[in-house]
Amino acid sequence: AGVFTYDPGFTSTASCDSTITFIDGQKGELLHRGYPIDQLASQSHYLEVCYLLLYGELPSAAQLADFEDRVTHHTMLHEQMVYFFRGFRRDAHPMAIMVGVVGAMAAFYHDSTDINDPWQREVASIRLIAKMPTIAAWAYKYSVGQPFVYPRNDLTYAENFLHMCFSVPAAEYKVNPILSRAMDRIFMLHADHEQNASTSTVRLASSSGANPFACIAAGIACLWGPAHGGANQACLEMLKEIGTPDQIPEYIERAKDKNDPFRLMGFGHRVYKNFDPRAKVMKESADEVLELLGIENNPLLQTAKELEKQALEDDYFVEKKLFPNVDFYSGIILEAMGFPTAMFTPIFALSRTVGWVSQWKEQLADPQLKIGRPRQLYLGETARDYVSIDNR
Ligand code: CMC
Repeated sequence: AGVFTYDPGFTSTASCDSTITFIDGQKGELLHRGYPIDQLASQSHYLEVCYLLLYGELPSAAQLADFEDRVTHHTMLHEQMVYFFRGFRRDAHPMAIMVGVVGAMAAFYHDSTDINDPWQREVASIRLIAKMPTIAAWAYKYSVGQPFVYPRNDLTYAENFLHMCFSVPAAEYKVNPILSRAMDRIFMLHADHEQNASTSTVRLASSSGANPFACIAAGIACLWGPAHGGANQACLEMLKEIGTPDQIPEYIERAKDKNDPFRLMGFGHRVYKNFDPRAKVMKESADEVLELLGIENNPLLQTAKELEKQALEDDYFVEKKLFPNVDFYSGIILEAMGFPTAMFTPIFALSRTVGWVSQWKEQLADPQLKIGRPRQLYLGETARDYVSIDNR
């Protein structure tokens, strides 16, 4: 026995110290290594943010060029991986493929990954950041029955991802700079978010000294749930189910009814209680993309806008401080770009990989590192004697 603090859902427990990301939920503030997310989203780009998260400072031009070169060098998957992809059922969810393929990387690199060696930790980090877009794009290609498209190292990280998703042998996808910028912004806005459920999962898995690829696969599995990264897919599916703006009041009533498990997906956040600063930038980006594509009047998007308006005016949502979160707007952009809803969460996973990896490296460098081992409040039977099956 012993005295433990009981904190279900870890609403008030700090599990570690960290210098990577700061969030002030009341002020709607999100800082990476001290830099505000809106400044990064408007002035930086994804690989620069990756460098910042991993190494603590913005890179010089030479440092950035070297980093981009290293990431580019690792974008290919081992050719044997192709068989692994092909082993999945045609209708597998791409998140199931991602959990499997990333976990399987442990089998490809077990002989060169000694987590006690800082250089090997570095190589594992770069491999993960570099290969994740290829894995996500191939999961997509497999699901639509198209041939895998190999990475092109002359493109930016976001352009290359769009190329691997949308190019087909007969027609190379022509990347529109506004769309690749919007893609890059989605990557940046999801890059890290301190000790959220999937990051905490990665840290807990790694606290036992597990292989890094297996730890990241655990993070991907956690992210999949609809209360976390799966919310972007669930949100778009909800909008499709609502269908037309006249149905909105019914769904708002359902979300408020405590006897109905339905929630407005893409609304609410554990930490942000005023607004989600990522959602602000994402909303602007969504407007830009819809205008570019000339689909501002798309019925689904009209429903999204009207739902946002009605929920923000409703007393229930106002009192409980429930605002659209990052997943509400990212789904709209991805839908407009032509991604199927099943790809939304894999895109979140690839963006968040740098956050998981940065937190993993930080944890392993901590001399105080201990295995994560929560306790429990036991509410079961006290000790009793075994009864043979004939006497029960
Ligand atoms: N629709 C209707 N009611 C809601 C919603 C919602 N989306 N979110 C919270 N509530 C209510 C909830 O019923 C509870 O009411 P009461 O106090 O009367 O019991 C109150 O608001 C507080 O909710 P909670 O579930 O105790 O809050 P939490 O901090 O445990 O959960 C959350 C946060 C994000 C899981 C939750 O808001 C939610 O389920 N939202 C929908 C899913 C979603 O959009 N998730 C993405 C989060 S942002 C990106 C990410 O993390 O991946």
